[in-house]
Amino acid sequence: MKKLAPSLLSADFSRLGEQAELVSKHGADYLHIDVMDGHFVPNISYGASVMKSLNNCDTVKYDVHLMIENADDYVEDFVTDKTEYIVIHQEACLHLYRSLQNIKSFGVKAGVALNPATPLCMIEEVLADVDLVLVMSVEPGFGGQKFIEASLEKIKRLAKIRSEKGLNFKIEVDGGVSTQNAKKLIEAGADILVVGSAVFGADDIPARMNEFRKEME
Ligand code: DX5
Ligand code: ZN
Repeated sequence: MKKLAPSLLSADFSRLGEQAELVSKHGADYLHIDVMDGHFVPNISYGASVMKSLNNCDTVKYDVHLMIENADDYVEDFVTDKTEYIVIHQEACLHLYRSLQNIKSFGVKAGVALNPATPLCMIEEVLADVDLVLVMSVEPGFGGQKFIEASLEKIKRLAKIRSEKGLNFKIEVDGGVSTQNAKKLIEAGADILVVGSAVFGADDIPARMNEFRKEME
């Protein structure tokens, strides 16, 4: 079953709880939590206290995307009974294997994210140790950017490696996902689609969620 993870970065922050509840009632599998530190990426978003305040959304799990330096120091803050994945960036981790084990030591699933310019070979040695690979299809930092087309091939190559090696990590795609490319991404091998502006920028958010669901069938 393919999953949909609305990114709260594009939500109306003055009504964050309300909007999180809306998408969780209309078919969101995860709330995608984009955490930015103003160092690894040129933007600052929100932290664990904001995520934990969304306690009215019982039906969904958190998928935490840490775009931060020194992730090891902050992982524990994001561990809750609703946290399914904590994802760290290969480019921000000097000791990636250790950082992935650190996430798992808290009983949550560990993911690794790759920027658009980072080749798959950079995570080859840890593929057996991850539960999820997040393929960034825009440069991290902001919502509402254009999908980088080369990401589609990257997802296909990653899916091929996964089947050749007999591994079962999930493939998540993040950035510029729309109802126009959702089907192609699923066919390429993506399991989880992160969608920010295409959901929260819609006039009718539940209707847009349904459109995504149809494309993902
Ligand atoms: C970007 C974030 C994304 C972003 C996606 O750094 O990781 O999750 O919110 O937003 P859209 O879907 O608008 O590209
Ligand atoms: Zn993200």
